[in-house]
Amino acid sequence: MSDLGDLARRSTELISTLQQPSGAYPASPTFSAYRGYCWFRDGSFIADGMSAAGEDGSADRFHDWCARTLETQRGRVESVVALVHSGRPAPPAQMLPARFAFDGGVGADPWWDFQLDGYGTWLWAVTAHARRHDRDLARWAGAITLVVDYLVASWERPCFDWWEEHDEQVHTSTLGCVGAGLEAVLRAGVLDARRAEAAGAAAAGIRALVAERATTEGRLTKWLGRSDVDGSLTALVAPLGWLDPAGPVAQRTVAEVERTLTYAGGVHRFADDVFYGGGQWPLLTGFLGLARLAAGDRAAAMASLRWMASTATADGDLPEQVDGHLLAPDHREQWVERWGPVATPLLWSHGQYLRLWHDLGRP
Ligand code: BGC
Repeated sequence: MSDLGDLARRSTELISTLQQPSGAYPASPTFSAYRGYCWFRDGSFIADGMSAAGEDGSADRFHDWCARTLETQRGRVESVVALVHSGRPAPPAQMLPARFAFDGGVGADPWWDFQLDGYGTWLWAVTAHARRHDRDLARWAGAITLVVDYLVASWERPCFDWWEEHDEQVHTSTLGCVGAGLEAVLRAGVLDARRAEAAGAAAAGIRALVAERATTEGRLTKWLGRSDVDGSLTALVAPLGWLDPAGPVAQRTVAEVERTLTYAGGVHRFADDVFYGGGQWPLLTGFLGLARLAAGDRAAAMASLRWMASTATADGDLPEQVDGHLLAPDHREQWVERWGPVATPLLWSHGQYLRLWHDLGRP
């Protein structure tokens, strides 16, 4: 599908058709390991793309699903917060999962579950959606305050990252997502004074920690104490807006992602990625495009959109990754044997395409 607008229309249609009656967005309808689940991370970015593209009802239904799902976890979150206050952090298994079944249940399949980023990203996405479409945030306020309490109590903990790896580390993208979410909610003015103070302290603590331990040569690093970058870091520039796009940290971080992780337009996750051979990810190329656009480089952002479109199948499905340039080709086959072909369509790829296409003025 070579027409950029046709692919955007196909993206909204695909996401709308696959959105569940409950409001959940499936990560990928047919991929064996993802079938039946909705991730807070994927879903929040998909909802953001739909909201930007004018599909506000779809985004409303997703955020309603998140809020209902979070309400079912209220007891769990309150006990996590109480444990922290008593000086004993909850075991990882007690923390919120990264993904839920479509009915809002936790599902029966084991997963690399303790991940904090999706909850921060949800706070950011729901407030951005409410501002964009003039929604009253009171609709989601109960769930928002619950998530704020959870993140304020937990943001410093190591957990799995965007890629569901390395739960022994504190990941910079995770910190940035949590910080962006807390700061978005603070700006929206929906917190009571006590919570606002706690959220403000956590948000400032995140900025201080990243400056001190996740910055090298004036740019961000993949996790605290490691020196290379991760492709997800560009999301902190745009759409999350946690880094000023014109500032030196954002510019050096984006430049390093371009220099070390981008090949012929498409972005890899990180240097030692072996998942399906470590290919290039359309959704990461979408984040790079948004960061380039936020810094004023429209031509480079258009090149990112075009590269994304070039990965679509004849039916207009965007995959999770493509294998034209693999970092670890010897590892590809073992993943195909384990989980089947690469997840296609991946709704998050379509959501990121929509957001970049919209921000570029719908070319
Ligand atoms: C990715 C995650 C994503 C999940 C569902 C995993 O392979 O690493 O970032 O949330 O798939 O799409």
